[in-house]
Amino acid sequence: MTTQTKILGTGICLPEKVMTNFDLEKVVDTNDEWIYERTGIKARRICSTEGGEWPTDLAEKAAWRALEAAALTPDDIDMIIFASVTPDVKLPNSASILQQKLKITNQCAAMDIAVACSGFVYGANMADSFIKTGMAKKVLVVGSEMLSREIDWSDRTICILFGDGCGCAIFGAAEEGETSEVLATHLGTDGSGAEFFDQPIGGAVTPLTAEHIAAGEHFMRMKGREMFKVATRTLAENARIVLKKAGLSLEDVDWVVPHQANIRIIETTARLIGVPMEKVIVNIENYGNTSAATVPIAFHEAVMDGRIKRGDIVLFDAFGAGLTFGATLLRY
Ligand SMILES: CC(C)(COP(=O)(O)OP(=O)(O)OC[C@H]1O[C@@H](n2cnc3c(N)ncnc32)[C@H](O)[C@@H]1OP(=O)(O)O)[C@@H](O)C(=O)NCCC(=O)NCCS
Repeated sequence: MTTQTKILGTGICLPEKVMTNFDLEKVVDTNDEWIYERTGIKARRICSTEGGEWPTDLAEKAAWRALEAAALTPDDIDMIIFASVTPDVKLPNSASILQQKLKITNQCAAMDIAVACSGFVYGANMADSFIKTGMAKKVLVVGSEMLSREIDWSDRTICILFGDGCGCAIFGAAEEGETSEVLATHLGTDGSGAEFFDQPIGGAVTPLTAEHIAAGEHFMRMKGREMFKVATRTLAENARIVLKKAGLSLEDVDWVVPHQANIRIIETTARLIGVPMEKVIVNIENYGNTSAATVPIAFHEAVMDGRIKRGDIVLFDAFGAGLTFGATLLRY
């Protein structure tokens, strides 16, 4: 029998602090109406800088929820894939820190992936491959970000878009006779668009200096319009590719869980692929763009409130800096 990959449990954790558009009006020259109309965002969560809400802290809490949902203990996990572009520290990697925080003693593989907003989908598809090849049995895939640390709070074109948060899922093999399975996966990258969203200062090429910080050059930079155009095209193409691979049509899809970057990107994509917005999970209003965390947070919330049920066909669809992109089509 070939192995079918199933989502065994999910969890999320969001920082306590809520920053609304009205709060942002006090930080930069912007207003609630502009932000909501252009992006669909009303509020975002912001991690404490006092400690206790670092990306691996959020991940630990989210992981405990997923373990409970899956009726597993930490030592059942035999691989951790941690997707983030805002790790706690440069070394060691966040997955190792999380392994320690969860008190996992089995010395499981623990790796980070830095593919920006596509991170969770990359992790999910990697988990599917590791499970199908027998290299792992229970893979914890995490998307956790503290973007509030890396954005320029004086730049109104970027700071309005992002927020902090974490979502995760545990992937494992389905039992015999179960219908849950990953039906098709797709991953890709178009490096020619790297300059549309980057953070060149602070790496090996240009180490961070006091001058960079004083000039505010160390933050993420984004070409919003270019990202917008690429995003809609890419998300639509991702959907077509996985549906074709699975031999399914859009009518078969019960729910689309897209990366939450901008409501207009989500609506345009839905129109391009021909799916009604009633089938699209959207929570950008509350959290903004939490990068690798948007898809697992939106998925978890929709499972918890009963919209997504076991047996439903679900499409995860994401794109991000890189430009990376990917999709997962699964029967939940
Ligand atoms: C960023 C984004 C919302 C900007 O929307 P837009 O419609 O392209 O807006 P523009 O940049 O053309 O700016 C329009 C005007 O609003 C102004 N403006 C920009 N940000 C503003 C803000 N926060 N508040 C008020 N006005 C703002 C601009 O200065 C400009 O004014 P001007 O016409 O007088 O020059 C949009 O491009 C976007 O969402 N892009 C995708 C970004 C993304 O998803 N990135 C992450 C990918 S993972």
